[in-house]
Amino acid sequence: MSVELAVIPVAGRGTRLLPLTKSQPKEMLPVGRKPVVQYVVEELNACGINRMLFITGPGKTAIENHFDIDAELIENLRRTGKEELLAELAFERANVEYFYTRQRRQLGLGHAVLCAAPVVGKQSFVVALGDSMLGMHAKAKVVARMTQVFEEQNADAVIALEEVPKEEVVHYGIAKPMTKPADVFQMADMVEKPSVKEAPSRLACAARYVFKADLFDYLKETKPGKNGEIQLTDAIRAMINDGRKVLGVRCRKNEKRFDIGNFHSYFKAFTEYALADPDYGAELKELLKSLVK
Ligand code: UTP
Repeated sequence: MSVELAVIPVAGRGTRLLPLTKSQPKEMLPVGRKPVVQYVVEELNACGINRMLFITGPGKTAIENHFDIDAELIENLRRTGKEELLAELAFERANVEYFYTRQRRQLGLGHAVLCAAPVVGKQSFVVALGDSMLGMHAKAKVVARMTQVFEEQNADAVIALEEVPKEEVVHYGIAKPMTKPADVFQMADMVEKPSVKEAPSRLACAARYVFKADLFDYLKETKPGKNGEIQLTDAIRAMINDGRKVLGVRCRKNEKRFDIGNFHSYFKAFTEYALADPDYGAELKELLKSLVK
């Protein structure tokens, strides 16, 4: 059966972005003209995923509101002669079904994914972090390649990996390939935030995964790790240690990860998107040039 469902965890507190995230979800922060999570849904939908299950938490209702069909707003735009703006709401009518469940205590990403278990049942599924975009304007197709590899090779898990500069391995889960890494390869281990010296490669987890429902058995057994949180990485390591087939798929050049979880990469992402804006990008470029002179 093909993979149709994505679990999108969006329940984290986003403390690295305070005070911005005190009363608004980081997943709703604007990058160019859209909120982060809209790009995530558009990317997944373009990869053949049409059911989105959000794991939400306190203060995240703006996400649900964003994907609702707002009949009153549509009527208002028509009545006031702003029909041209209706195109901006076309995403509301995409071929997507939305589901929401709550993570009632923020016990980490692994725990957030485990909250999906009763809804997911026995089907295989994608996990896509709600605060990370891949590729400019949702153009990444890595999830489509991942689900294809997952089915063809009867894998237990497939993980998207992005090559990062050597000094950045300290921020990510880093893959240890079993053999010389090709576009698709089997993983021997995964090391969470290694030192530059200890890193087994420069291939960092890139916020997209495909799993068999068996992942939930591993998550249930996963003890709180770093920061007292239940880590998805620990469950994946347990799968590998158990001899399960965990594959890595490399992101291509145009599938760069934009992480919105910290100001450093959020500022960069916003600037890159704003510079690509068809109406205002050129003007902004001139402004930036004059500012840095
Ligand atoms: P992060 O690892 O960035 O954690 O989440 P965080 O708690 O949101 O942020 P900081 O560390 O306090 O700044 C990665 C993704 O996993 C979700 C987040 O919403 C984000 O989309 N997440 C994280 C959960 O759903 N639940 C959690 O308990 C933790």
